[in-house]
Amino acid sequence: MNKRGNFSNRLGFIAATAGAAVGLGNIWGFPYEVSQGGGGAFLFIYLFFCFTICIPVMLTELAIGRKTGRNAVGAFKALGFKNWKFAGLLGILSSILILSYYNVIAAWAFGYIFEIATFNFNIHHEFQSYTSDLFKVVSYAIIFMALTSFFVSKGVSGGIEKLAKVLMPALIIMIISVSIYAMTLPNAIQGLEFYIIPDFNEVTLSTVFNAMGQAFFSLSLGMGALITYGSYVSKKENLVKSAVIVTLADVGIAFLAGLMIFPLLGFMSEGHLDNVANGPDLIFVSLPEIFAEIGGSTGAFIGAFFFLLLCFAALTSTVSMMEVPVAFLVDEFNITRKKAVLTTALVVFSTGIPSLLGNGYSDQLTSFVKYIGSDQPISFLTFVINLANDTLLPLVGLLITLFAAYAWKKANLDQELAIGSDYKASFLQRYMTIALKYILPIVLTTILIMKLLVTFFGV
Ligand code: TRP
Repeated sequence: MNKRGNFSNRLGFIAATAGAAVGLGNIWGFPYEVSQGGGGAFLFIYLFFCFTICIPVMLTELAIGRKTGRNAVGAFKALGFKNWKFAGLLGILSSILILSYYNVIAAWAFGYIFEIATFNFNIHHEFQSYTSDLFKVVSYAIIFMALTSFFVSKGVSGGIEKLAKVLMPALIIMIISVSIYAMTLPNAIQGLEFYIIPDFNEVTLSTVFNAMGQAFFSLSLGMGALITYGSYVSKKENLVKSAVIVTLADVGIAFLAGLMIFPLLGFMSEGHLDNVANGPDLIFVSLPEIFAEIGGSTGAFIGAFFFLLLCFAALTSTVSMMEVPVAFLVDEFNITRKKAVLTTALVVFSTGIPSLLGNGYSDQLTSFVKYIGSDQPISFLTFVINLANDTLLPLVGLLITLFAAYAWKKANLDQELAIGSDYKASFLQRYMTIALKYILPIVLTTILIMKLLVTFFGV
C-alpha cells in the first residue's frame, strides 16, 4: 500500500534503531574514550548526557519523522517550513561524509576477519602496510559498500529490519561470550579496574566535550537518520518508550564492549594499562597482539570472531546512514529504491576514496592538513571526522532543536509524543519544554564552538 515501506512492528523498529545506534562508535570509540577520560568518571558524564541532552533530541527527530512520514529534507517541507529544508540538506551531507569514511574503517575490520582466521597474527605489526595495500583495502571497501547497498535496496521491512533482527541478538551473544572468555585470562581484573573505577583527576573540560560528542554520535543524532527511521513507524507506536529502550540498548552494549576489551588489555599489558596504545591502534594493533599471544586456533578463532562481531555492529549502522540519502531520493525525486541506492553508493564511495588512500598509500592524503597551532598533520579521514562528527552533527542537532522549539512549536511536538504514551503532563513533557527552548540550544552551541576552537584552532 505504501511504496516507501514501513517497519512491520515495534520490535522491528527498535531493532533497526538500536542497530543504527550500536556501531563502531560503541566498540571502537567508546572504550578508547573511557580510557582517556578517567574510566568510570567518563562513563558517568556520558550517561548523564545521554539522558539529559540526547533523549530530547532523539524524541524530536523521531516525532518529526513520524508526523510527516517523510525523509530528512521533505519532513521540513511537509510541516510547512520550506526555509528549514537546509537543515535536512546538511544532514544528508553529513550522512554522505560519515558513511564515506565509516565504510573504510568497517572495510579494515572486514579484512581482518580473513587475515586472522588464516593465522596472519603478524597483522598487528603490519597495520600500516595493510591500510596502504591498495588492492586489499579497495576490494574490502567495495564489498562492504555492496553489502550495505544490498540490504538497503531490499527495503525497510524486508532488508534493514530483518538484518537488525538477526545481527543484534547475534552481536550481544558474541560480545558476552568474548567477555566471559576474556575474564578468565590472567590480569583481566586490572583491566576491569582501569575501566570501571572512576578517576576524576583525569577529567578535563575536553573530557566533558568528548563525552557529549560520543553520546551524540553513538545515538545516531544530528543527521536526520532518526527522522528517516521515524517516518517508517506506525502511528500507534509509543515513541517515548522506544527512545528509552534504544538508548539503554546503546549504552548497555557500549558498556559490554568495555567488559570485553579491558580484560583483554589487562592480559596483554600484564596489568599495566597505562602503556596501552590508543586511537585506531587500540582495535587494529593492540587487540590482534592479544589474539597472537593467545595463539593457535583458539587465538585465530577468537580474533576472527571479534572482527566479525565488529562488522555486524558496523553493518546495521552503515545501513541506517545510507537510508538517509536513499529516502530523500525516493521521496523527493520519485525514483525507485534500487536507483536511489545505486546513486548513493556511487556518491559515497567516490567521496570515500581520499579516506581510503589517505592511510599510507598517498602521502599527500595521509598528511592532509595541519591545523592552526598544531605541528602534527592529520589525514584526510581525520579531517572528514572533524568536519562531519565534530561540526555537522552538533550543528544539525542544534538546528533541529531550534526548529522544534521556535518554528514548529513545542505543542505540536507534544501532541506527536503523546500518542500511545502517558507523556502528557508528565515530568518528561515539562523537562522537554525547558530542554528544547533553553538547555539544548545553550549546550549544543557551546559544544559546537568549543569543538571548533579546540579542533581547528588548537585552543
Ligand atoms: N551510531 C553509530 C555508531 O556508534 C554510527 C551512526 C549510525 C551514526 N547512524 C548514524 C552517527 C547517524 C550519526 C548519525 O557507530
